[in-house]
Amino acid sequence: MRILLVAAEIFPLLKTGGLADIVGALPPALTAAGEDVRVLLPAFPAIRAGVAEAQPVARLQAPWGEEAQLLFGRLPLDGGARRIAIYLIDAPGLYERPGNPYEDAQRQPYGDNHRRFALLGWAAMRLAQGLDAQWRPELVHAHDWHAGLAPAYLRFHTPQVRSLFTVHNLAYQGLFQPWNFPELGLPAEAFQVEGLEFHGQLSFMKAGLFYADRISTVSPGYAREIQTPAQGQGLDGLLRARSHVLHGILNAVDDAVWNPATDALLPRTYQQPDGRAMHGKALCKAALQAELGLHAEAQAPLFIVVSRLSEQKGLHLVLEGLDALLAQGGQLALLGSGEAWMQDAFRARAAAQPGRIAVRVGHDEALAHRLFGAGDVVLVPSRFEPCGLTQMYGLAYGALPLVHRVGGLADTVTDCTLENIADGSANGFVFETFDSDAFARAVRRAFALYARPIEWRRVRATGMRQPHAWAGAAAAYIALYRQALQAA
Ligand code: ADP
Ligand code: GLC
Repeated sequence: MRILLVAAEIFPLLKTGGLADIVGALPPALTAAGEDVRVLLPAFPAIRAGVAEAQPVARLQAPWGEEAQLLFGRLPLDGGARRIAIYLIDAPGLYERPGNPYEDAQRQPYGDNHRRFALLGWAAMRLAQGLDAQWRPELVHAHDWHAGLAPAYLRFHTPQVRSLFTVHNLAYQGLFQPWNFPELGLPAEAFQVEGLEFHGQLSFMKAGLFYADRISTVSPGYAREIQTPAQGQGLDGLLRARSHVLHGILNAVDDAVWNPATDALLPRTYQQPDGRAMHGKALCKAALQAELGLHAEAQAPLFIVVSRLSEQKGLHLVLEGLDALLAQGGQLALLGSGEAWMQDAFRARAAAQPGRIAVRVGHDEALAHRLFGAGDVVLVPSRFEPCGLTQMYGLAYGALPLVHRVGGLADTVTDCTLENIADGSANGFVFETFDSDAFARAVRRAFALYARPIEWRRVRATGMRQPHAWAGAAAAYIALYRQALQAA
């Protein structure tokens, strides 16, 4: 099958969150399964710089008249062992801006985002029409609101080419003012409730949800949750109406990037424990404590956070629970960036208790690996979480996840109750109600288990053994692509 993935980010070139990890890992997994995959991306500077020998393929004209070039090149991975075929939309006036792909330096969305991301969907449709004489997709797989117009353009301009739209996070919807509609190159009938209109605005997310032949999201749990008013962000009615084409496919872990036995970013690699202590992990922990200025206490449980600092991630619970965590003898190492008040709050706590709390503000891929390598517990207390990758990286690296029971976190983490420990299913700590009491009790459970090293090692080994391999997720996507192609 010829499949075109359409997205705004790709690891390792440009990443603001888990979307990039998925867009970087799914193509090689589909290729390994025998599919013919290409990825379409805006030529943001970091992406342009990383795509080797990008050659012009065709000229592209946006519906509002702007001229762009379509380029084609390859993204080498693992020193060239794997490569991803990439189309780039070269439109310097739209994309050649430093930093974040969506916002300016003041963290305001760019005023022309409707154009910047309409062109992404438009280029996907033009490729489906045969813009590149060498390769034409049979199916377009669009990711998040950035690519949400692709299914709409296909429906109106190239209905024979089918689409799958994947929601990574319903909270970011791509809403724009209605007077931008005439620029988009869609017929008037698209601007209504049975279309992309959303409370008088244009919603790129709704366009994807409404016009795609199939919809997926990144965990079975989140697929159910977004059909409820509580989590549907105003789109639950549409999602319930389309529930027959909505699927939850759990994200996976890219073994070539996230594997403690081969991870070159760790000071010391280590294997799955065979009931014995992992000396490699102990060395990673000692090295990290030294690096971050934490006390060199091998026995102190090290709690880590690697996260965007946003409302979604529920990290105020960590702030509220920090005194209790320290009082029980723990340490905290946090890497994150986002909302200024939260950065400041964590920095202030670290300044007040150096040696026990270390905070690094910024995005640092290598430090993230060292944190998972060193950590005993990874905290992911998200208010909501479509899938979540850091709890899965924690499982793979033997940092037991402590999570709120929601979305993909509930699908991947099983609490250390006595019965779950007894039957060998426990792999972390789960709290039910989203409040500081429930969080504090889960932290106490973590300390209680840590005080029983044999059981701790068993639970840790369970998590490290659990396969979250891409082959399974890729097979599920392929089945969905086939369904979309067969749709009448
Ligand atoms: P989301 O996409 O909602 O941010 P995920 O858990 O799906 O959440 O993915 C987050 C990804 O971003 C993971 O790969 C995580 O390691 C990474 N990450 C988050 N914050 C940072 C940071 N400050 N530095 C490095 N990596 C980070
Ligand atoms: C989104 C979600 C996150 C998910 C990621 C990759 O950013 O917030 O839960 O893991 O996309 O699908």
